[in-house]
Amino acid sequence: MYSGFVIAVGTAVLLTMAIFIVMFVAYYQQKQAKQQLALKEMQERHRRELMAATFLGQEEERKRLAADLHDGIGTMLSVTKMSLNQVERHLNGNNQRSSLQVQKTRSMIDETMTNVRRISRDLVPTTLDRFGLLPALEELADRASEGGMDVQIDSPSDLRDLSQNISLTLYRISQELINNVIRHARATAVTIQVYCLHPDSADGEVRLSVQDNGVGFDFDVIMENKLGGLGLRNIESRLSVLNGHVTFDVAPGRGSNVHVQIRLRDAEIV
Ligand SMILES: Nc1ncnc2c1ncn2[C@@H]1O[C@H](COP(=O)(O)OP(=O)(O)O)[C@@H](O)[C@H]1O
Ligand SMILES: [Mg+2]
Repeated sequence: MYSGFVIAVGTAVLLTMAIFIVMFVAYYQQKQAKQQLALKEMQERHRRELMAATFLGQEEERKRLAADLHDGIGTMLSVTKMSLNQVERHLNGNNQRSSLQVQKTRSMIDETMTNVRRISRDLVPTTLDRFGLLPALEELADRASEGGMDVQIDSPSDLRDLSQNISLTLYRISQELINNVIRHARATAVTIQVYCLHPDSADGEVRLSVQDNGVGFDFDVIMENKLGGLGLRNIESRLSVLNGHVTFDVAPGRGSNVHVQIRLRDAEIV
């Protein structure tokens, strides 16, 4: 009778202890999981901030380079051209061979000036800063169509409200994608599509796609090589800052279609 009571009490105590231990372990594990999640989130935020700072630094450096190009080399070229005009005046049409040489040199200077202007324009997106994403994309499109390609821009929504962060990211990505089409695709047509989806709701997003009818490529093969696909990797890095996504819908022989997607709310957090 007595020993039965002791066993019952002992069992109850053991059971209670076991329940406590189980509860404690569960609580501890939950706490640890929470801490790990918080740590992961912190690391992720830190990574995004670092990447954002890198891209910001890159933009600043590009601005400095463009200014140096314009003020240094651009000015020097203008002065050289003026000096050449003076030489031509001194020649006064007396020496035909030298006059011809002067003309040739002047056209070389003009060509260099055009190149300097083009490089500066690539470095700093002046049109983007002044007029917004759509006119800046139109400028990129104009350049692509200079080579004879049929370029369409399809943008049904008003893009003026996009944050500077998103606009610059989409512009730099479009620049890379359009340059890729010009350099690699051998395409006859390219379509750039950009629009906002539910801009006023909590899950509003902006989408961009660049599609060409060129030779296409094998994405996996390009990415296998650690040093290959730097431009494409850069697109992924830029988007990771804004929690955006890119899908490469590409294959050899059937053109390329690259989709980019950024949630407006996620992009604000940075
Ligand atoms: N639109 C395209 N059409 C065909 N090939 C492409 C296209 N875009 C990219 N590629 C291929 O993918 C490769 C990697 O592109 P990218 O990362 O931008 O590097 P890069 O332009 O400096 O070569 C290119 O060298 C090219 O072979
Ligand atoms: Mg490229």
